[in-house]
Amino acid sequence: MLGKDQPVRLQLIETKQGMSPLKGVMMELEDGAFPLLESVKGTSDLEEGFGDANFSLLVGAMPRKQGMERSDLLSANAAIFADQGKALSATAAPGSRVLIVGNPANTNALVAAANAPDMLPEQFMAMTRLDQSRAEGMIADKAGVDVKDVDRVIIWGNHSATQYPDVSHARIGGRWAKDVIKDVKWLTGDFVSKVQKRGAEVIAARGASSAASAASAAIDNIRDVHLGSKKWQSIGVLSDGSYGIGGGLWYSVPCACPGLHYTRVKGLPVDEYSASMMNATEAELVAERDAVRHLLPSSYDAGVPLQKLVALKEAWDANDKARIQEASKSLPARFQAAVKSALSS
Ligand code: LMR
Repeated sequence: MLGKDQPVRLQLIETKQGMSPLKGVMMELEDGAFPLLESVKGTSDLEEGFGDANFSLLVGAMPRKQGMERSDLLSANAAIFADQGKALSATAAPGSRVLIVGNPANTNALVAAANAPDMLPEQFMAMTRLDQSRAEGMIADKAGVDVKDVDRVIIWGNHSATQYPDVSHARIGGRWAKDVIKDVKWLTGDFVSKVQKRGAEVIAARGASSAASAASAAIDNIRDVHLGSKKWQSIGVLSDGSYGIGGGLWYSVPCACPGLHYTRVKGLPVDEYSASMMNATEAELVAERDAVRHLLPSSYDAGVPLQKLVALKEAWDANDKARIQEASKSLPARFQAAVKSALSS
């Protein structure tokens, strides 16, 4: 995930009731004799678990059971992620990356980020990479090609049944996917609903939520952001107003991954069908956010953090000290300190 030579220290967080099974997992990790695994620690204390973490994978959430709607999970999980956001903010390494996998992932990411005053929203990602992998697999299968030849499949919006798997920009071996597959009815019909419902399909088949494929997607997501990737990757990130999506939501968009960070791919043309699909999944995210408003601190102001950061960057690029100071005022304490020290050096 972090490179072939990068040793790792694992800090595993479990609930108090889960400590015994966690011990078993730790034994298995030991027995695996993984050459890069430097140490493993297990704890039920959030601050201990997140202490100095560079990468945090928030995979634990109250799992969805068969027949349960994701909305049932909203409140219970949002409370868990508010606590995790606070602990991350207090103890994780500066500049750390957080990937939220536990459902409802996008809104959990919003809640965690909003409760992390000393971190930037950019540090929090909600995982839609599993949906992207599912979509790429289906497209490769339909076209009869290897999955590595499929690129630029986009997942827009929520990791839920409203997500929009979009192939209007996708390529297969360098050719437009639409020209290779040609079956528009399938691309906007069965394909879309199959990707949207794949999570539920897995739950129905195995009586539990996806595990191995989700873990694999989490690894792919972190690896591509950290080490870089030539392909676009869909990630649930803070919406910044692009594509007309309102600010302050964790909405999945295509991202370029040059290494160490991601940047949103902006300015893609959006046809009428895509726009309606993108709006529908946005509406669901707005409803989810409104359902967990009570867990958002009063300082939560949709979309503001990123705009503040942009203002700081513009002031920095203009080398305007007064504007830099003004723009940094409203940023988290750690960043104010960094700006102050940069200005004085
Ligand atoms: C998946 O996409 O496999 C899971 O997120 C489904 C779920 O709700 O647990």
